[in-house]
Parts: sequence; structure tokens; C-alpha cells
Amino acid sequence: MNTTTISAKDFGDNFKWGVAMSAAQNEGAYLEDGRGLSIWDVFARKSGKIKGNTKPTECCDFYHRYKDDLLLAKALGFTTFRFSISWSRILPDGVGKVNKAGIAFYNKLIDECLINGLEPMITIYHWDLPYELEKKGGWTSHLMRKWFERFTTICVNAFGDRVQHWIVMNEPSGFTTLGYMVGQHAPGKIGFDGYMSAIHNAALCTADGGRIIRSHSSKAIIGTAFSCSEVIPYKEELLHIKAAAKADVILNRMFIEPALGLGYPEDPDFPFLEKLYFHSKAWKYTRQMQFDFDFIGIQNYFSLTVKHNSIIPYINASEVKASTRNVPHTDLGWEINADSFYRMIKRFWDYGNVKSIIVTEGGACFKDQLKNGVVNDEKRIAYYQQYLAAVLKAKNEGVNLNGYLAWTLTDNFEWAFGYNARFGLIHVDFETQLRTIKNSGYWFRNFLKK
Ligand code: NOJ
Repeated sequence: MNTTTISAKDFGDNFKWGVAMSAAQNEGAYLEDGRGLSIWDVFARKSGKIKGNTKPTECCDFYHRYKDDLLLAKALGFTTFRFSISWSRILPDGVGKVNKAGIAFYNKLIDECLINGLEPMITIYHWDLPYELEKKGGWTSHLMRKWFERFTTICVNAFGDRVQHWIVMNEPSGFTTLGYMVGQHAPGKIGFDGYMSAIHNAALCTADGGRIIRSHSSKAIIGTAFSCSEVIPYKEELLHIKAAAKADVILNRMFIEPALGLGYPEDPDFPFLEKLYFHSKAWKYTRQMQFDFDFIGIQNYFSLTVKHNSIIPYINASEVKASTRNVPHTDLGWEINADSFYRMIKRFWDYGNVKSIIVTEGGACFKDQLKNGVVNDEKRIAYYQQYLAAVLKAKNEGVNLNGYLAWTLTDNFEWAFGYNARFGLIHVDFETQLRTIKNSGYWFRNFLKK
């Protein structure tokens, strides 16, 4: 397929085109109008693990600039706008009193989306747990299900009259592994016991969230978003093949399989899974971890080549970086491989009981340069051309694929990479908050033209 000649028309009239963002990465205003602290506010202050020692205090100031940013999304031709709700803006201590100003903010945001012809899509949880809940164990606590139930119920009751599309959880594999096993993300925990509890509570809350939204809103269209990365063994040798299979469990199978009713993955060579199985008493929970989602969100940022590494506990695998293999990669070193994205879409679809797929995030980080008012990010344009062609190929082959949301509208706070890892279609000068549409933004506008 000639990737430069496809256009939005090829995807059909009902295909959703949107942009995605998250509260912790965009809003800023971290102490305003009664918001409580999230784990990211505290982690950024204490861990020393954020590049440049930056903090998500102001981000791209979406809290104050949402009207302008929505106008920009509209101007580029998008019609879906995905954002997440900051839990600690709604419930500053995580569970107790509702902060009316928090509800008011999201009401204004939703109304403004609708005024601009942008269909709001809400993510309930995008990694920013209230710090007060982390103090009580966070995702490792069995109380998580109660806490999550309250937060989700408040959101659906407050916003469900105008919002139809919901995403319960964003990339549970990401926040459990990075936050509760390797400590690179908030809350910075390291080890396996907490990791297992976090996995189990996240798997349960994913399905609970679906049930809660369904019971409070009959018109809701409910999904949840999983990351995925094809894992390729470094060499076709048994040790490396086994290492790849284990990484595949963690990256691709750990959450979607319970959500689809299959329980936790099994792999006789991976003792961690047996530990998880007994730790979580998984046999009791297969049905509770399942929910009949209307759509599954897929997010893919790289494919991964791994080799056997006995030093890494349980998983015995480590990455062979793209930069050492002379393959195309982004400026974060993430391998660009649209064919592998296509294969992951097909693989998720092939589970058989996925009703519909939306690519709920897709994008790439490059070291963009703003020169004379122009950001010529041609690598990002080429990236989107290849990845959208992969989406179209899967769709044309029968996958019920109904949308693509670019990550992300404006440059924002990229977690442990801070502010220098830019993913936006719009450049942000973080000193002045000046927005400049990058060439990739103009490219999208042209691509989406009716
Ligand atoms: C997926 C996460 O959902 C999002 O928050 C993050 O910024 C992107 N990956 C890029 O790393």
C-alpha cells in the first residue's frame, strides 16, 4: 500500500478520529480549586527520577487553556477528544468529600467539547492515584476496589448524561510494572509482592469499572485501553524464545486475557505466573475479572526485541535496544515497526470475543525544533503514514476497527521523561505556554479534510 496516498475517507464515514491526553500530563493547576495531591506530584518531588528534575505542576496548563486547546483540536479536523479525570481533583483525599470545583471543571470541559463538535471520551484512570490512597497501600491494597467504585460512580453520575464513550483503565500493564515493580514511575515501588497485588487489583477494577458504568448509564459505550508490543526473540534459540514469551505475558497478555474471561495467562516456563495465581487466589476471580466491553482500546508505541538474561528475576529477559540493531526508532529509542503493530491488532482481534477495537493512542516522540515559527517534524508525519496504513490494512481484512486517536494534541509532561520528550501535534513552549502547530498537525488537517 502506498502510505502517502491514503486519506481519512478510506476508513469510512463512521470512523472516529481524535486526539488523546491525560489529566496528570496536561492540566497543571495542581493545587488549584481544592485539588489534592496525586502520586505523580509527590514522586516528582521526592524520587529524583524525572528527567531534568521537572514536575507536573503546570504541564501545558490545560486547566486554564482548555477552550483554546479544544479549538485547536477542532481546527485540525478531529471529532473525538479523549481526556482523563484527575481523581484527586474530584476526591482530594481519594474517598471522602467530593470537590465541587473539580466536578465543575470537567462539566465545563465536556460542554465545551460538545459545543465544538468534539465527542468526549473519558478515561477514568490514567495513572494519577490520589497520594492519600497511596499512603494506605495504593494499588496493592485490597481496599482499592471500594475506592475505585466510589470514584467511578461519581464520574458516571456526574458526566454520564453527556458522555457516551468511556475507557475504564489506561494501560494497566504500564502503571503496575513501572510503578510497582521496577520503580521508574510513581509511586516508585520495587519488588514482586506489591506488583502481584497491584496486578490483581487493577484487573479486578478494570472489570468492576465496566460493570459500574453499565449499571449507571444505559447509553454508555464502554471500553478499556491496553498497551501492546510485539516481542521478538533476539535469536531463534530456545533461551531467547522463552525470554520473549515471558516478556510477552507481561506486556501483552496479563490484562486482556482476564478481561476477556480467560483468567490469567499460563506459561509453564514462567514461575511468576504460578506465584501470581496463588497469591491472588485467581481461581476464585475469573468471572469477576471479566467484563463484556463494547470496545478494546489498543495502544502501541514500539516492538521489542529481547534476549535471555538470567540476572533479571523471574522474567529472565532484557531488551536489545533498537539503537544497537540499526533499525528505525524514535528519539526515545523506541523501535518504529508498523508491520508489528498490524500483527498486534490482528492478534487482539483473533481472541475472538473482542467486539470492536479503537486505537486509543498512537504517536511518536521526536526532538522537535521550533525555527521561525515552524516545526518541521517530517519523521512524525512518516510515522503516522505508516501506522495508519497498518490500521487500514487490518480494517480492510475484517477487523472491526472503529477509530484512531493520536497521542497527543499538545506536547505535555511525559512521565519520567519530563518535558523534553515531545509527542504533540502542537508544539508547546513550556516557558510561555505558546502553542505552535507542527507540520504533523497540518498534515493531519489535510488528511482529515472531507
Ligand atoms: C501511553 C500512556 O498512556 C501515555 O500517558 C504516554 O504519554 C504515552 N504512552 C507515551 O509514552
